Amino acid sequence: MDYRILLVCLGNICRSPTAEAALREELRRAGLADRVEVDSAGTGDWHVGAPPDARMVAAGRSVGLQVEGAARQIAVEDFELFDLVLAMDARNHADLVALAPDVATGRRVRMFREYDPDAAPGDLDVPDPYFGGPEGFSHVVGLVRAAARGVVDHVRAELGGQPGAGR
Ligand code: 4NP
Repeated sequence: MDYRILLVCLGNICRSPTAEAALREELRRAGLADRVEVDSAGTGDWHVGAPPDARMVAAGRSVGLQVEGAARQIAVEDFELFDLVLAMDARNHADLVALAPDVATGRRVRMFREYDPDAAPGDLDVPDPYFGGPEGFSHVVGLVRAAARGVVDHVRAELGGQPGAGR
C-alpha cells in the first residue's frame, strides 16, 4: 500500500464505518483501491467489537453502500501507521490532536469534510446521528460520499496521478 487513511468518529459504529465504505467505493472507481488502505476507529471504547448500528447499515444500503466491520478504538500507534487521520467532527478532531504523540503526528489529523469542496469552511462536522431520527443517518450518507470524492482527489495528487483519472 502506498497510502493509508484512518477515518475516526466517537463510537466507530455510525459515521466512520460509513465514511470507510464510501471512501473504498470512490477509490475503486478511481482505480486506486490497490494503492490506498482505509480503516476506521472510534475515540471511545463503548462499542469495541460491535458491528455498525443497524440504522446506519440501512441508510447505507439504500444507496448501495455496504457499511460493515467491527468497531475498534484508536491506538497511539495509529498516528504513525496512517498518513491521514480524518475526524468526523470538531470534538473528534480535538480528541485526536490531544492523543497524537507529537506535533508531527498531530499534523496528520484533519477534518474529513475539509476535502469536500462544497463544504462551508466553518461547518465541517458530520453530525452525530446516534440519538436522532432516521433523517440523520441519510444526512451522514450524503456528507460522507461528497467528502470521500474530495479525499480521492487529494490522494491522487499526493500519489502523483492524473487529475480526474478513472472518473
Ligand atoms: P458514531 O456515533 O460516533 O458516528 O459511531 C455514535 C455511536 C455511539 C455513541 C455516540 C455516537 N454513544 O454514545 O454510544
